[in-house]
Amino acid sequence: MPTKFLITRSYAQQLDKEDPLAAYRKEFLFPQQSTSGAYFCGHSLGLQPKKTKELFMQELEDWEHWAVEGHWKAKNPWLTYHQSFAKPLSVLTGAYPDEVVAMNSLTANLHFMFASFYRPTGKKIKIITEAWNFPSDRFALESLVKLYGYDPKKVIIELKPAKKDAYLSTDEICAVIQKNKDSVALVMMSGVNYYTGQAYDMSRITQAAHLAGAFAGFDLAHAIGNMPLQLHDWKVDFAVWCSYKYLNGGPGAVGGAFIHQQHGHDKTTPRMAGWWGHDQDTRFNLKGSYKPVSGAAGFQVSNAPVFNMIGLKASLDLYMQAGLPAINKKRKVMFDYMLFLLKALCTPDQKKKFVVKIITPVTANEHGAMVSIRVEKDMGKELVDILTKKGFVVDWREPDVIRVAAVPLYNKYEEIYLFALELSKHTVLL
Ligand SMILES: Cc1ncc(COP(=O)(O)O)c(C=O)c1O
Repeated sequence: MPTKFLITRSYAQQLDKEDPLAAYRKEFLFPQQSTSGAYFCGHSLGLQPKKTKELFMQELEDWEHWAVEGHWKAKNPWLTYHQSFAKPLSVLTGAYPDEVVAMNSLTANLHFMFASFYRPTGKKIKIITEAWNFPSDRFALESLVKLYGYDPKKVIIELKPAKKDAYLSTDEICAVIQKNKDSVALVMMSGVNYYTGQAYDMSRITQAAHLAGAFAGFDLAHAIGNMPLQLHDWKVDFAVWCSYKYLNGGPGAVGGAFIHQQHGHDKTTPRMAGWWGHDQDTRFNLKGSYKPVSGAAGFQVSNAPVFNMIGLKASLDLYMQAGLPAINKKRKVMFDYMLFLLKALCTPDQKKKFVVKIITPVTANEHGAMVSIRVEKDMGKELVDILTKKGFVVDWREPDVIRVAAVPLYNKYEEIYLFALELSKHTVLL
């Protein structure tokens, strides 16, 4: 890894030449729009792995050829289709294969996990979460407490940074948990915040939650495939994610869940039940009482949405081939390179129209691939338009942030260079 970067295009090209993951770029399809710039929106919708089409055709042919018998006779039998995800998902999350399952969608999985892990008793009814959590997570939490007859304003404690512009420090988060130890039942955070790009210390937050006698759960939408995770060792109780961001599963692709063995193997763990979570040997007897499969698979309710899992299958194969150590290493270098260039190039100049600030924490382990660039004075959308016209696919989050992510499996260093150069023509970095 270079300790110092240079500000030339040829240097960026050299980094690409030396990149051990460079060959993976060819495995993805790029939108027309990004040909003159770069696709930097993998934090929102990952690109399509080329193999997806072939895998789709396989399932279409198996459906045509076998119809109902495809459940047993398809090349990848549909009855057990979901099982092939356990191993790669366990690698990505730092879990045992029986702690993870591909199922449902992200917000649906949040509700499912709340059914299992929000167990208000006596005074212990409160939920601690980020004030700036993604709206779907906030809505899910509010509807949950209303189901129990509580007032969300009284029961949900929202974590806000002490200072404007400051991040939520782990000390701050743990102090709030400790302060509310008599009343907190659940701590629910994101792994990486969708807006700031801040990665939280899930291990310490979980520890603090457990010391307070609460469960700890995480929404890993922006964390899975984007940073090293050790959910089992961190003793996280549950986690959920979607597969359409860094996991390249395609729009609305199947979600996933982690349930720690401690709860997954405990058949008394409360859960929403359905036949696909029931013991595989007697699933088709269609009589008798519910007997959950041991582990995360026992939290499924429905049969696998095969067509909604194909992109994920193609992408996870690439993740496993490339290996997480190489992916994480490149992600770190790309993030540092982006920061270096923005600092070096976005220097003061009266002709420049926009003033920007990076709000993502820069310390290693406190961020993933995404850089959140705050645009001052309500001018952000104008800047997004300029970048879009130049072929840079980035996204905008209200009220004032442009999100940009260089993804190790398919982005190039040269694209980062060209982006920084374009941005620097218009902006001064605070
Ligand atoms: C952090 C976070 N939570 C929840 C969601 C909602 O996901 P879904 O529509 O798949 O339920 C998203 C979607 O982008 C998200 O980024």
